Amino acid sequence: MDVVKSVIKKAKELEPYIIEMRRGFHARPELKYEEVWTSGVVVGELERLGYEVVRTAGTGVVGVLRGKKPGRIVALRADMDALPIQEENDVPYRSKIPGKMHACGHDAHTAMLLGAARILSGLKDELNGTVKLIFQPAEEGGLGAKRIVEDGHLNDVDAIFGIHVWAELPAGVIGVKAGPLLASADAFKTTIKGKGGHGASPQFANDPIPVAIDIAQAFYKVLAREINPLDPVALSVTSIQAGNTFNVIPEKAELLGTFRTFSEDVREYLVRRMGEIVEAYARAHNVEANFDLTIEPIPPTINDERLAEFAREALKPLGSIVEPQPTMGAEDFSLYLKKAPGLFVLLGIRNEEKGIIYPHHHPKFNVDESVLWKGSAIYALLAYRYLEGSK
Ligand code: NI
Repeated sequence: MDVVKSVIKKAKELEPYIIEMRRGFHARPELKYEEVWTSGVVVGELERLGYEVVRTAGTGVVGVLRGKKPGRIVALRADMDALPIQEENDVPYRSKIPGKMHACGHDAHTAMLLGAARILSGLKDELNGTVKLIFQPAEEGGLGAKRIVEDGHLNDVDAIFGIHVWAELPAGVIGVKAGPLLASADAFKTTIKGKGGHGASPQFANDPIPVAIDIAQAFYKVLAREINPLDPVALSVTSIQAGNTFNVIPEKAELLGTFRTFSEDVREYLVRRMGEIVEAYARAHNVEANFDLTIEPIPPTINDERLAEFAREALKPLGSIVEPQPTMGAEDFSLYLKKAPGLFVLLGIRNEEKGIIYPHHHPKFNVDESVLWKGSAIYALLAYRYLEGSK
């Protein structure tokens, strides 16, 4: 039987194992950099299969499988962390940890990659090159990918593939898109310091509130008048805080917000212009003001065109492949793409009949488990077929 067919057959045979693993992870969610139990399970499974295993990036795990013949090095990535959300699903495997939940499907990713680990270890003699399995900690606001990169695991990698289960696609549908898929993410904070006083005597104060309002409006004008309308940007001022009563002019005002884009150039332009606007308004109104980025920026996820074409071909035996809409959400998978060409594949999990209709990060988010075998097959086929190209 040809290898592709046997990969698919094996993935289907592994379905009960993959579902069991996913339910285990689901019931014991761990937040960023706390994935101690989860990574322990991963290490145990990989060692049993004969992988060379390294613990890395805090609570991360990398497993290496060397094929019989030399060749390229391909990395497959799953993230393992959960979210600080109280689960509202009534399922037998619901979260046993109050206030923590796998509400983004990273439990499914970890289980799918373990399924692929089994398939690939059975194919060892057929592999031309090396497979590196990256079980990453802390995707949710912890930049686990950055630490994996800093620990050097991407240095020798020729291509990297990741999967995200996707609530916007029907169960089992595979989404492959060349170019921009997910946006960059930045958070900003502007503090304006004027002079407090009596609401009846503004002439003796220096009110920071109108300055804060002007700055927010000026940010929006940059989008409307300075950015090419064909370059999508989401910029939102999400908080303006100042004062606490009716007759006192406060000393300080604070603005918070976020912006997202698919273009590095647009991102850099916004950072520069927002800083300039804050500085200019501060000078104009004789207040102190500063503009700070408060999280480490996440770049946009830009899929490699050739790998997208390759994946469309390689995954054909698994059924329907669509080109998904990009979204303004962000993923730290993009940090791997700074080191090696890669592809982030989406796998549909939405199933109205089963009531699986809730978006990511919702307390009722769930995954249609009937697609999990397919996730393992995607990982394994991409790795096998990519290494085939080493010949
Ligand atoms: Ni996620």
